[in-house]
Amino acid sequence: MNLSPLSGIRACVFDAYGTLFDYASAASRCHEVPQPLREKLNLLWREKQLQYTWLRALQGRHADIWQVTGEALDFALETVGIDDAALRERLMNLYLQLDAFPEVAQVLQRLKAAGLKTAILSNGSPEMLGAAVRHAKLDQLLDAVLSVETVGVYKPHPKVYQLAVDRLELEPRAIAFQSSNAWDSWAASAYGLHVVWCNRYGQRPERLPGRPDREIRSLAGLPALLGV
Ligand code: LAC
Repeated sequence: MNLSPLSGIRACVFDAYGTLFDYASAASRCHEVPQPLREKLNLLWREKQLQYTWLRALQGRHADIWQVTGEALDFALETVGIDDAALRERLMNLYLQLDAFPEVAQVLQRLKAAGLKTAILSNGSPEMLGAAVRHAKLDQLLDAVLSVETVGVYKPHPKVYQLAVDRLELEPRAIAFQSSNAWDSWAASAYGLHVVWCNRYGQRPERLPGRPDREIRSLAGLPALLGV
């Protein structure tokens, strides 16, 4: 594995769900759902949420991620045989209070101390991202929170990665983009960003255009890759 530092990086841009925030922390707090079912629900909820973003992007029928996440949850709940409106509401509200992964705050502090800009680039809506950032107390550690709502289409549309370039006013190669989603990492690389694939979930490499520059297992490995 190549662990040599990347050069010329001026900003670190992060995917939100699965990279900074643990989306599984919502369902895992719902103890009324038995453990094996909770895991199934989690996987299905996330899988369906992503599928719906891709399908809506292809159809040109954008709806924000709050709606898409709710529709994916309805599909997942029905699949595991749960019909409980109060639980649905609780799960949706928990999505606004996801835990950040344990290393996140410290890593962001270190990057900022080294003079790098930090930002989120996510499918999340501004409201959902704002709530998650405040809940995890990351507000002071991020220079920008960029939402696909600005461009009206989901990742991996190139317009989304372009948004980071435009807002940060940097060349694509001056940005290191971190995502735990392999497909997001490949697409950001194909667009032209430097990419560090934070492969928390042990995913396989994609067979798609692009190729991440580096691979790490948690964000704790990021500062060394930037020489800070
Ligand atoms: C996001 C999803 C893809 O935050 O994790 O954009």
